[in-house]
Amino acid sequence: MKLKTVDYKRDIFYLMNKYPGIVSKVETEMLLEYLFNCAKLDLYIRDFAVNETIEELYDSLVERRLSGEPGQYITGRAEFMGLDFIVTKDTLIPRPETEILVNEIINLPSGKKRRILDLCTGSGNIAISLAKLMPQAEITATDVSEAALKIAEKNAARHNARERIKFYKGNVFNALVFDKNPKFDIIVCNPPYIKEGDFPYLQKEVRQEPEIALNGGKDGLGFYRVIAKEAHRYLERCGSVLLEMGFGQRQAIEDVFSSYNIFETYRVIKDFSGIERAIWINLS
Ligand SMILES: C[S@@+](CC[C@H](N)C(=O)[O-])C[C@H]1O[C@@H](n2cnc3c(N)ncnc32)[C@H](O)[C@@H]1O
Repeated sequence: MKLKTVDYKRDIFYLMNKYPGIVSKVETEMLLEYLFNCAKLDLYIRDFAVNETIEELYDSLVERRLSGEPGQYITGRAEFMGLDFIVTKDTLIPRPETEILVNEIINLPSGKKRRILDLCTGSGNIAISLAKLMPQAEITATDVSEAALKIAEKNAARHNARERIKFYKGNVFNALVFDKNPKFDIIVCNPPYIKEGDFPYLQKEVRQEPEIALNGGKDGLGFYRVIAKEAHRYLERCGSVLLEMGFGQRQAIEDVFSSYNIFETYRVIKDFSGIERAIWINLS
């Protein structure tokens, strides 16, 4: 009987363990899922033929990753709220901290049909997650970047939520000029909030993301000022603003809003690193 010889040098576990301590397990899985066009579980239960060409392709993906290209831009995919989103270099890569915003809104007492505006929608991750998780809500999403909006619309279609969300392009609230009734119970926003001066110190991966999605002006607070000035025109009576914020920005943001004497801070939420990450501000 002739025994079948198996080339253990080149099976999927060989690829998985080829760069120990250089590429994390999560990223290795992400690259291999992309390479084999399969789900994570398949990597462990299916038999994949790994030949020299496949190994070279994998090496080239690892090289791109090590040169600073985020895994999500290589694969064109990012996970947010358990959903799979298309991302490109025109969109910010959705962050786990931003899930706080969605969780805050979906955990509000149910029963009321809410109108929600997602300002600065990017890949549409917040708006689409809300549409999926709140079948009653009416959702509008805006962004100044046409390229990002196209991706957001694609993502909405992928998640069968295209009919649930109105998308508008424009500079902050100007995008709403074509909306017949631009009044909302909640304005949620993860605005660009990085200080211009901090750009040279960002991780090389972050520097690959669109500057327009990160740049919050000289002190990082430019968008909060616009929102504080304009939001009352777009909020229903007793409406609220829910904002993501950067490390150490909470007091400055509260000062910006309290200078209008029409808002009160309702709640500050910390992320899993203990950093104050989101703030509810109500029309008083
Ligand atoms: C920090 S990203 C947030 C993306 C997405 N909402 C998220 O949480 O992952 C900020 C977004 O603001 C958009 N943006 C930048 N300047 C803007 C402006 N003047 N008006 C509207 N949107 C703007 C960018 O295109 C980008 O998509």
